[in-house]
Order: sequence, then structure tokens, then C-alpha cells
Amino acid sequence: MRVSTSGVTSKRKIGGSNDIFEKCRNFTRPSDLQSAGLYMYFEVFGDREGCGPGEVRMGNRRVLMFGSNDYLALITHPKVKEASAEAVRRYGSGCSGSRLLNGTLDLHVRLEHELAALVHKEAAITFATGFQANYAALSALTDKGDVMLCDHNLHASLVEGAIRSPARTARFRHNDLEHFERCLENCPPEERILIVSEGVFSMEGDIADLRGIVRLAKPYGARVYVDEAHGIGVLGATGAGAAEHLGVLDDVDIVMGTFSKSLASVGGFIAGERSVIDYLKHTARPFVFSASLPAASVAAVGAALEILRQEPERRMHLLRIAQYLRDELTAKGFAVLAGETAIVPVVIREELDLCRLCKMLLEEGIYTNPVLRPAAAQNLLRISCTAAHTEEHVDRLVTTLVRVAKKLDIEP
Ligand SMILES: Cc1ncc(COP(=O)(O)O)c(C=O)c1O
Repeated sequence: MRVSTSGVTSKRKIGGSNDIFEKCRNFTRPSDLQSAGLYMYFEVFGDREGCGPGEVRMGNRRVLMFGSNDYLALITHPKVKEASAEAVRRYGSGCSGSRLLNGTLDLHVRLEHELAALVHKEAAITFATGFQANYAALSALTDKGDVMLCDHNLHASLVEGAIRSPARTARFRHNDLEHFERCLENCPPEERILIVSEGVFSMEGDIADLRGIVRLAKPYGARVYVDEAHGIGVLGATGAGAAEHLGVLDDVDIVMGTFSKSLASVGGFIAGERSVIDYLKHTARPFVFSASLPAASVAAVGAALEILRQEPERRMHLLRIAQYLRDELTAKGFAVLAGETAIVPVVIREELDLCRLCKMLLEEGIYTNPVLRPAAAQNLLRISCTAAHTEEHVDRLVTTLVRVAKKLDIEP
């Protein structure tokens, strides 16, 4: 028993398991992996000076990057860099306030018009990150008495938005239309329904059956929300994403996108009918109570969108190179998940094998991402292509992968 300075007696034990930091000190997974020489996170990249297309710097080495979401390879594009630098010169380095009050620039308004036009919606709203966009939109749009019908494999930002919302959440099996229909049928008639899916799933790279989803949703008056983080810039006749690719862009009610992938910047957006966007602008707390995107980030997206419109061949090349990689890996016997996007995941059954494989690939100068369960349903070597990759890059990756897998005795 202790007596505090105020004289109050406390039975509280100080320190040890009673310390709120105790769980952090007992959290040994990273250090266990580090001791085994298998830790693959927080790798440090340097500047890109002297790096060729598709390469990044790690220490004093140039490494072939097959783990980036810079799908259109625009991060280092001279027009994007110059737009960003010019915006800093003209607007300064930050906005120092929320959009609602003192943080709206003419650049934000212009970009929101362009984004709305890209995805065929009346209006759009930009957020500081894609995560914030999903979190804010799902939690603000839904109420008690509503239900969110979510694909099982949603990104954490959508899951967190659903958790924060007072609405009921029901999950349908990943891309399983039959199960989706059963979940729809099970919704009580008084519940308002929001269906939530990714256009291109971030880990497996597969495309949602959006045609089926919108067809089944209509008779229920359900609204459809699609996260196009990995679809925009990659799929569709104008690069608007999976919904455009499948011919259902006008049937999707809300399109979410991020700037951190094809659009070479940081931030995110939601596009939809004007009343929805106005509602979010005034009620979505992560939007109202957070500073707006700096001019440099906004201008970079504007330049990336211009290149997306003017150079469709970038997207075509990206899709061709990803298919070439898929074909080459399949021919070598690797278990490649079927797909048609920039994401090419290879199933590696054992977690330890996967970590070793990534580590050795990196030693050989190739960066890829290990995706461990439960981040995906199976352990995956997640390879992502960009428009900067060539067939020579792919050949080097495949040859190295075959050699390293053999060395590690991993069955392709
Ligand atoms: C499907 C999906 N949605 C949302 C996000 C969050 O985007 P951001 O990185 O811009 O916060 C990501 C990022 O990985 C994602 O993959």
C-alpha cells in the first residue's frame, strides 16, 4: 500500500505488469526477426541521383525496385518535380490550417474539379492521406440503423472507418458474388445499405467483380463505394480505375482514390454526388480538424493527372510489362496469383522462406515486398511493376528469383 503526496491511499502496484509500457517492452517480434537476420521493414532509401529508371538508392548501392506503388513511374518525372517545386516557390511549404477555415488554396479547388471529372462524379474532396479519406468518409457517411456490406479483404483504412462507424458491418467472402447476394438478402428492409469494396485489391492485385456488385445492389437501393487506390492510373480507358475498366464507373456512387500510388504524391480523395461531398466537407472530423494538403503535394498530383491524360502509353507499357512478368514466372513454375493489374503476387507457403527470399533478393540488388499472413490470406512475395520497368529488368528479376529459390530449396 502506498500513500500519495495528497494523502490518498492506493493499493496500486507501481511498475512491472501495472506499467502501461509493459506490453511494448514485451513486444519482441521485430527484434526476434532482426536476430535471425530476417527483418525486412523500415529499409532506408536515399536520393535518386544517378539512379536509372526503375532503380532506387540504398546506402551506396543502386537497387532495382520491384516493390513500389509508383505505378506510372512519375515520382521522378521532370514535369511532376517542377510543378511541385514551383508550387513551393509560389505558395510556400504548408497551409497551416484546416480546409474549412484558412487552408483552402485555389490549387485544392482546381484539383478537386479535375478528380471529379476523371471519375465522372459531380464533386470531389481531397484529404491529407488516402487512409484519412477512407476513415473519414465511412465513419461520417454511415449511422446507426445502416449497414456496411464489406468485402472480406479490405484495406485497414476501410476497416478502421467501419469500426469507427455506428453502423452494423457485415462481411462477404472475398469477391464471392453468391455470398454477397446472400448477405444482401439478409439485410432487414429498414436498413440503409452501403457496399464497400476495393477496385483492385492491394495485396492480391485481383479486380473486384464490380459489374456483379452494382447489378445486385440496384434492387436494394444500396449505394456502392469503391476504393480505387490501386486502380487509378492503371486500369480503364482514361486511367480512372477498375470501375471504368469494367464499364460501371457511372453506376458506382462513391470513388475513393489515393495520390500515393500512380499520382506520385501524398493524399487522397473521395468523389461522388455534390450533396455527399458537401456533407463530408462539413462533418468528416478527420477533414475538418486536420490541416490541408500542402501546395507542393497538390501540384504534383495536378501534373501527374496531366501526364496520365497525355501519355496513355505509360499505362499500356505498365500492363504489358506486368503481364510479361506474370508469364515468365508462371513458365518457371512459380505460383503466381492470376490477375491483370500492376501487382504480381507469388505464393510462398512458409513465412520463413518468404523472409529469406526477400532478404536474398535484396542482397542481389532487387527490392520486393514480403506480405505475411494475416495481411493477406496466404504468404505472398508481392512484386509490383511500374512503367519504368523493361523486359531486361523483368528477366533479371526472374533469373535471380529462380537462382535464390533454388539456393533456399524453395519449391516454386
Ligand atoms: C487499398 C488502399 N486504400 C487506401 C490506402 C491508403 O492510402 P495512403 O497510403 O494514401 O494513405 C492504401 C495504401 O496502401 C491502399 O492500399
